[in-house]
Amino acid sequence: MSEAKRLAGEKAIDYVEDGMIVGVGTGSTVAYFIDALGRIRDRIAGAVSSSEQSTTRLKALGIEVLDANAAGPLKLYVDGADECDPHKRLIKGGGAALTREKIIAEAADTFVCIVDPAKQVPVLGRFPLPVEVIPMARSLVARRILALTGGQPVWRDGVVTDNGNWILDVHNLSITDPVGMETELNQIPGVVSVGLFARRPADIVIIGGEPPKVL
Ligand code: A5P
Repeated sequence: MSEAKRLAGEKAIDYVEDGMIVGVGTGSTVAYFIDALGRIRDRIAGAVSSSEQSTTRLKALGIEVLDANAAGPLKLYVDGADECDPHKRLIKGGGAALTREKIIAEAADTFVCIVDPAKQVPVLGRFPLPVEVIPMARSLVARRILALTGGQPVWRDGVVTDNGNWILDVHNLSITDPVGMETELNQIPGVVSVGLFARRPADIVIIGGEPPKVL
């Protein structure tokens, strides 16, 4: 499994151009991408990071981490996913970094998603959908999600996001209209962001293997 992640992560280097500021996601697949980026660090201008975890790894390899506001629009964002459907729509947030990931995805011209084959699904929802919430709204948001979707929200007890918020994981969903669900859940007061990447899906998906498959 981690071999497939490594192959996907290293393949994404093909999309890095000289002088770029690279948007960098979070997770075990991205860790392989960061390691590969470290090997060409003199060719890039730096990175915008989606988490404290990735920032630490980038800095350890001598890659400069830039503020997203200062960096402005990005050409490239590389990140993993927890699920990917045939339309390149994703569930993300298993590592609780969904909000910053979504910000960088939105800022990027090209979003390259790197996954192992097990992440491919015909319909999103087998992986519990992460939703980042303001702590005081946890219970309200859970009630609204249950009423709107029928899914079971479970508080990821003990996890605090890099933004100081909490995560609800919504179980037992079959997401046939990802754009509609993303839009609807985004409207609930107290929701910071929803781990559905459907309004802004990936542009390119790399599935790790020998050789990697590019969709
Ligand atoms: C982080 O919050 C997530 O969105 C990750 O991108 C996702 O969980 C993929 O992680 P792995 O690459 O570790 O499977």
